[in-house]
Amino acid sequence: MDHHHTTFVHLTDLHIGDPAVTDPGLHSDTATTLATLLAEVKRVKPAPDFVVCSGDLTNRGSEAAFRELKRLFDEAALDMPVLFALGNHDGRPGFYQGMLGQTDQLDAPYCHDAVIAGIHVITLDSSRPFSVGGHLDSDQFTWLEATLVTHPDLPKLIVVHHPPSLDEDDIEMEWEAISCADTIRLRETLAGHNVIGMLCGHIHYDRVSLWNGIPVVVGIGQHAATDVLYLPDGLRMVAGASFAIGTVRPSGLTISFVPQPTDRRELKRYSHDDMKQLIANYEANRIAAAKA
Ligand SMILES: [Fe+2]
Repeated sequence: MDHHHTTFVHLTDLHIGDPAVTDPGLHSDTATTLATLLAEVKRVKPAPDFVVCSGDLTNRGSEAAFRELKRLFDEAALDMPVLFALGNHDGRPGFYQGMLGQTDQLDAPYCHDAVIAGIHVITLDSSRPFSVGGHLDSDQFTWLEATLVTHPDLPKLIVVHHPPSLDEDDIEMEWEAISCADTIRLRETLAGHNVIGMLCGHIHYDRVSLWNGIPVVVGIGQHAATDVLYLPDGLRMVAGASFAIGTVRPSGLTISFVPQPTDRRELKRYSHDDMKQLIANYEANRIAAAKA
């Protein structure tokens, strides 16, 4: 039997660096990993209808890093649409200038939608300057509400860097998700709209949650993998990368993870106190930047 299903590839957390800058925060050769994965994507059969990249496209958000990202995608010459979302490591100005050659409205959230192979793909921008965690402002919710009703007959796939807060009252863990308040609003906004899945990143491990009936899929990505067994003690990053192949059938969404070979050697380790300090530093920078 010859079934035709819509298929796509989910990439996340590419963390591409500026090749001219030595970045102590870059723990693996992400340019080589991206080139390797894009070569694999080209061998996927049947050819995917589209590719989504769910944020942290670069490690530092500079225009030069985005130019490098563009160069790697140009070199791979994929013949399907590639959709990009921004993450907390991405700067909007760097993205607009380096990837799109855009020179105005450089601070606007990058949210957009497209209909591809019978799927309405809606991309949100949960990045907020100097924040580790995710946020969606009121304007973006207004845009989302208007966008959700444009193709009422089509299944919707949401692409957003931060996954929603799985506990809507866990303020302590907001750094790893969309804020609790915005998560509640997102749940209410998406309800009843035939959302078949949400494709996310940020936490760097392969994880699937059923969130209010919507499958939320997170990938390891391409920079470093989170050691899930270490999570009760803090954050331990090990070598590892993966991408995922999605299949949309009338029955729903299937995700097949494609982990890459790795020795899972330790790259970086943070205690809970280290994490608290790191997040406090980000927050102090954000407040200082808002005052400036
Ligand atoms: Fe990331």
